[in-house]
Amino acid sequence: MTTLRMEEAAHAILARNDRGGYTVPTDRLYPFQWNWDSAFVAMGFATFDVDRAYRELERLVEGQWDDGMIPHIVFHAPSDTYFPGPDVWGTRHRVPTSGITQPPVFGMALRHVHEAALTSGMADAEARTKALFQAALRSHRWWLDARDPEGLGLVSILHPWESGSDNSPAWDEALARVPTTTTTAIRRKDTGHVDASMRPRDEDYQRFIHLVDVYRDCDWDPKRQWKKAPFKVADVQMTAILARATADLTHLAEAFGTEEDRTELAQMRRRLGDGLARRWRPHLSRFVSLDLISGADIEAPTQAGFIPLVALTLDDAQRSAVTAEIGRWLDGMAVGVPSTPAFSLAFEPKRYWRGPVWAVINWLIADGLRLNGAEDLARRIEQSTVRAIENAGFCEYFDPTTGEGLGGDTFSWTAAAYLVLGGRQ
Ligand code: SER
Repeated sequence: MTTLRMEEAAHAILARNDRGGYTVPTDRLYPFQWNWDSAFVAMGFATFDVDRAYRELERLVEGQWDDGMIPHIVFHAPSDTYFPGPDVWGTRHRVPTSGITQPPVFGMALRHVHEAALTSGMADAEARTKALFQAALRSHRWWLDARDPEGLGLVSILHPWESGSDNSPAWDEALARVPTTTTTAIRRKDTGHVDASMRPRDEDYQRFIHLVDVYRDCDWDPKRQWKKAPFKVADVQMTAILARATADLTHLAEAFGTEEDRTELAQMRRRLGDGLARRWRPHLSRFVSLDLISGADIEAPTQAGFIPLVALTLDDAQRSAVTAEIGRWLDGMAVGVPSTPAFSLAFEPKRYWRGPVWAVINWLIADGLRLNGAEDLARRIEQSTVRAIENAGFCEYFDPTTGEGLGGDTFSWTAAAYLVLGGRQ
């Protein structure tokens, strides 16, 4: 297909997955609005329909809780093709939602959409950005209060689903401590849509649902959950995305915030930047998350170790170490960057977050490399992502060893990634 035909196909996927101002990640497998998917999708929409890009973010905010949390799923309309649905979460928001969150790409997306609105000269852009800026700021306050109560400068996930990288080898040790017993009956639907060999294992799901049971029993109260959590990881990917989104909000605060907002955002940025900087490990050439229950570094190699580049300025030694390390991960792969490198014992090229390549992760890694002056590698990663999509279609993820498309197809965030990264070629 020509680039133009591919762009049309990407637009068609976004139109097909539109459920009325919000976009499902893909039909049936993920039939609701997902938090970080929608943020990437909004940036994709901003390449051709800025009004619709704002709508995506506005509909996500309909799910925001009074305490500021933006949940990971907003169940705008019922569907029986997904487990666990609203009945399992048992939350009390007026629009049903899940009870956990997801990476706060929202602030990044808001700046992106706002800048697209300025370029296209949209009349109501100011008012819309202002309202969404307030929502984003409230969510960042929630992150620091609820998920960094000890002031580490790192925010924690209490559930692997929050990371967006559900079955990443990074969680193996921490998740192994979580019991497999559940009070909720597990009725997986995902393996009816996608081959089980490409999805998390049943045992993972038992632990995932055990965690949901524990937090529902805490009535979704952040303080009670923090005390009870059997899984608590200060995650560098999450912290980096929050830090980067904080920088983007700081930029928007020049026009939309008060003096106090600007001071507060500057403090947040410093706290997160300092916290992240302490997670650099020279012997690994990447950043590592911290298991707050064992107190140990999580050294398993995963894509998360490179995401801090979106928020930090590396020194020369760090920059050359990271670029060499990413080069090593790309070596021999048909398409990179793998979510787990081929040299790891945990590598499974087709199983969700244990090896496959994700277009939106490449988008973040390329952004981080470019911010750190590694333009050539950033371009190489963007080009190979665009080529992988052209060869295999708009699938959920790709086998790094063959480039084969895997998981769900006609995927919204892959379409968005194509529009944004393709536009940079
Ligand atoms: N990614 C999870 C799933 O596969 C939920 O966010 O259902």
